[in-house]
Amino acid sequence: MRMVDIILKKRRGLELTSEEIEFFIQGYTKGEVPDYQAAAFLMAAFFQGLTPRETGDLTMSMARSGDQADLSSIPGIKVDKHSTGGVGDKVTLILGPLVAAAGIPVAKMSGRGLGHTGGTIDKLESIPGFQVTMDNQNFLQQVKRVKLAVVAQTGHLAPADKKLYALRDVTATVDSIPFIAASVMSKKIAAGADAIVLDVKVGSGAFMKNSEDAFSLARTMVEIGTSVGRQTVALVTDMDQPLGFAIGNALEVKEAIETLRGNGPADLRELCIYLGTEMLKLAGIAEDELVARRKLEELLSNGGALNKFKELIEAQGGDPEVVENPDRLPGASSVYPVISDIEGYVREIQSEQVGVVAMWLGAGRATKESVIDLGVGVVLKKKVGDYVKKGEVIADLHVNENKEIAKVADLLRKAYVLQREPVVAKEILLGKVT
Ligand code: URA
Repeated sequence: MRMVDIILKKRRGLELTSEEIEFFIQGYTKGEVPDYQAAAFLMAAFFQGLTPRETGDLTMSMARSGDQADLSSIPGIKVDKHSTGGVGDKVTLILGPLVAAAGIPVAKMSGRGLGHTGGTIDKLESIPGFQVTMDNQNFLQQVKRVKLAVVAQTGHLAPADKKLYALRDVTATVDSIPFIAASVMSKKIAAGADAIVLDVKVGSGAFMKNSEDAFSLARTMVEIGTSVGRQTVALVTDMDQPLGFAIGNALEVKEAIETLRGNGPADLRELCIYLGTEMLKLAGIAEDELVARRKLEELLSNGGALNKFKELIEAQGGDPEVVENPDRLPGASSVYPVISDIEGYVREIQSEQVGVVAMWLGAGRATKESVIDLGVGVVLKKKVGDYVKKGEVIADLHVNENKEIAKVADLLRKAYVLQREPVVAKEILLGKVT
């Protein structure tokens, strides 16, 4: 088999066999297929598309390209959750402890942030002492003991995806539904859970900018998961504004603690309950949505979820006191209020732009090598539907030495889209695919 023939076949729009896809993925992972041929293949497949069967084969080849977690020694149905990435998305910090407190074993592998999106691992690292790496045996033991462990995903899990994602990033082939679906699902399948709940974001801050594409991605991923025996459900959720108020690592941990305490922003709390409901149903812990919701609400109000978060922090070497005293988390040296120079109702808050602002402040990585500042970020004071008066504060920038603060503030101001007529904010949940 030759790579050049596979590229030609795809360029002509023909369907590849499973063997051809396997040849490409295993060859590329081992370095036998060079970047220039992989790049040509990506562009051909980007334009010609992949059939559902090809997308499924691509996913499974990528899932087999490295380690595959074996969670079978952990009793119970293991349910994983994945978000396609958003701004202010601190859901894992809340949902993990919440569903673990309800009885689901959560063996979570998470990523770091890049560009305008944040990553759960960076957020957890803002808790002093918190360790995000551990060997496999300790990981499994912690899940059995605490029902919850969150570690950084290693390069050994779906290494083909790691290499291909980097290549997609520099060849303008990221925003393809089959590639995104295969990328997400290969990692979820290799991570070993029995069932998967997906949070597919749609809006200005998401990969999918419109509902049609978001539902199409959701359907593609659900089909892949189901076809390999992993029950999969996808929720399509709004990202026309950041989730919650806080964007930035320690700031998001503080907001997560507030939410686990039973308070927190309404959109964030609702999304966690919707996703948790699906997880409880898949795990067989709740027979219907009403029972699941009641259980989750109870755990948020009676301290059960918050205690589980504390247990997680203790188990992974972090300072559990941050739960009672969030001021122990890293902070910023000053707070710079961003003042509106116009007035009206907030129609949209361009999430991507807010993510870029947080990155400029140092909360995110411009490149994989960037060192981040865990204490800085943005706290929104107005959300979609709110009325803003001229001269009112729309957001606070938490900063440590940023000489271009006025420019950054201007960028944040431009992320707010105001209009004269009243606005009704969209529901966080836009639909479900099973
Ligand atoms: N998230 C992933 O893991 N992969 C993609 O391609 C896009 C979002």
